[in-house]
Amino acid sequence: MTSLVQVTPVSHNSSSSTTSTNSHYSSSSTTSTSSHNSSSSTNSSSGGRDLPQLTWDRLHLVGNVGTGEFGVSHHGQLTLSNGDVTDVVVKILHSGKANTKEARILHELAVAGGTPILYGVTTKPHAIVMQYCRGVLLSSILNSFMYDVHHRQEAYDATCVAVAEFHGAGYSHVDLHAGNIIIDTSTSPYTCHLIDVGLSERIPPDDDWWEKIDWRDLQDIQTRLHLNSPDDIGRRELL
Ligand SMILES: Nc1ncnc2c1ncn2[C@@H]1O[C@H](COP(=O)(O)OP(=O)(O)OP(=O)(O)O)[C@@H](O)[C@H]1O
Ligand SMILES: [Mg+2]
Repeated sequence: MTSLVQVTPVSHNSSSSTTSTNSHYSSSSTTSTSSHNSSSSTNSSSGGRDLPQLTWDRLHLVGNVGTGEFGVSHHGQLTLSNGDVTDVVVKILHSGKANTKEARILHELAVAGGTPILYGVTTKPHAIVMQYCRGVLLSSILNSFMYDVHHRQEAYDATCVAVAEFHGAGYSHVDLHAGNIIIDTSTSPYTCHLIDVGLSERIPPDDDWWEKIDWRDLQDIQTRLHLNSPDDIGRRELL
């Protein structure tokens, strides 16, 4: 199922996307309102042309990592301008439209909250190309008996750290569920990558409504972590 599409970064030094800083987010124009309805400041008339552009000749797709309601995420390999090859996720919307909002948010977050590096966007077809985040989906941790209550707690703590950092960068995730959270279990303590930022919203000044949405979602996850833990199940069986 290997399709060989080679992709080359154009008009953009790919190394810059790997050394991005949080300074990006401060440059975004904020059109926030308190309506809780606000469209993201990430909408712009540029149509994404201001984002790093990549061409397909340096991309090599190697598999499918997930199919969601709105798009397909492929595992790919990107040849950087220095010749290095790096693992990436290439996300293409079912609609065929440009996923400019998610790309711009990733660009502005500049890896805050462990979000993937945005390498760039393509056209023909439209796709966003981001870092492949190593780790285990939190949903797999929830459903696996391999992770005891201590590991689950560590995964939850890492997620809280990432969410606080995400908020610190000015955004609320809005779509936090265990399928959008990747836990890197190779680090001690565990670290977290928040992915799928297409629904994220800029946090308006003096309004914590959006942040509360995320903390509420995290509470649900916390409840599930403890209810499903082998320790709890063992305890229930003893009762
Ligand atoms: N940057 C990434 N690194 C590693 N895996 C990823 C990355 N992005 C996406 N994935 C994988 O692909 C799956 C789907 O990605 P994503 O959640 O971004 O797409 P989606 O279309 O919004 O899916 P859904 O509607 O199910 O949320 C994720 O659950 C994850 O397993
Ligand atoms: Mg998702």
